[in-house]
Amino acid sequence: MFIYITRAVPEIVPQMLRSALPQARVEVNPHDRNLTHAEIATAARGADALVCTLADPVDAVLLQALAPPLRVVSTYAVGTNNIDLECAGRLGVRVCNTPGVLTDATAEVAVGLMLACARRFGEGERLTRAGRFEGWAPLFLRGQGVYGKTVGIVGAGRIGFRVARTMRKGFDCPILYTSRTPRPDWESELGARPAPLDDLLAQSDFVSLHCPLTPRTRHLIDAARLDLMKPTAVLVNTARGPVVDEAALADALRRGRIAGAGLDVYEHEPALAPGLANLDNVVVLPHLGSATVETRDEMGRMCAQAVIDVLSGREPAHAVA
Ligand code: DGY
Repeated sequence: MFIYITRAVPEIVPQMLRSALPQARVEVNPHDRNLTHAEIATAARGADALVCTLADPVDAVLLQALAPPLRVVSTYAVGTNNIDLECAGRLGVRVCNTPGVLTDATAEVAVGLMLACARRFGEGERLTRAGRFEGWAPLFLRGQGVYGKTVGIVGAGRIGFRVARTMRKGFDCPILYTSRTPRPDWESELGARPAPLDDLLAQSDFVSLHCPLTPRTRHLIDAARLDLMKPTAVLVNTARGPVVDEAALADALRRGRIAGAGLDVYEHEPALAPGLANLDNVVVLPHLGSATVETRDEMGRMCAQAVIDVLSGREPAHAVA
């Protein structure tokens, strides 16, 4: 039995695999970088299980090259947009992910980005580090308050709910949300109101994106939708970069069409749209939504358990294909 891991992961992953499947050979990419498609195909040839990350393109070509004997792809992520689920299903390869365990960590980053944008933390930090803080002044770096402002949540899943609850309970913010199905829990617990996307964009002071990346949500926020937002509004994206047309966003920020944006993810990750990083009204983070020690260990446990379950003939707890 052979298990290939495409990127160094917390030690708990190889440990769990070796102790539950002592007959298995567990190999980890020895390089401190993501592998190319061709490198994964070569390194994982003959693997029964592939542990991958969200940076690996697990497309039909790769799946067809590895299956059989490949039986399971366990991704160290909740998002599965980098994996051809339809092809995996056709080839009888199970695909498992890590839902639930990164909800709090990602919600913390979304809330942090709202505060950072509204209160101009990025500008203040850069200026202070550069030795340009010349003392307190009444007109210096005035931002906008967060308390009581309307927050629009796009995508009513676990992370969206956690962000909505924090903003409602912590900052007294009225909540609007989009959802394909009615969410009575949002309404009873948070007094949140469902709204069509365009209305949500027009009415919110902060818009936070929490939908998965699918063909339907690619460029969900494009130039026309950015134009619907208030000029004082802030857009936060901790979901997936391509949900936003990043060139259109950079343009809207440059023109002051919206007040700011807080981004943890990018359309062509790890590259940023030209000019984006030079704008003062954007806070840019390097996709660290789930990056806490506790969360990354928990993701590792789930990832390893899925491999153990499939290779032991059991139904995995979190299969998406
Ligand atoms: C995921 O798991 O999809 C997250 O983006 C990782 O931070």
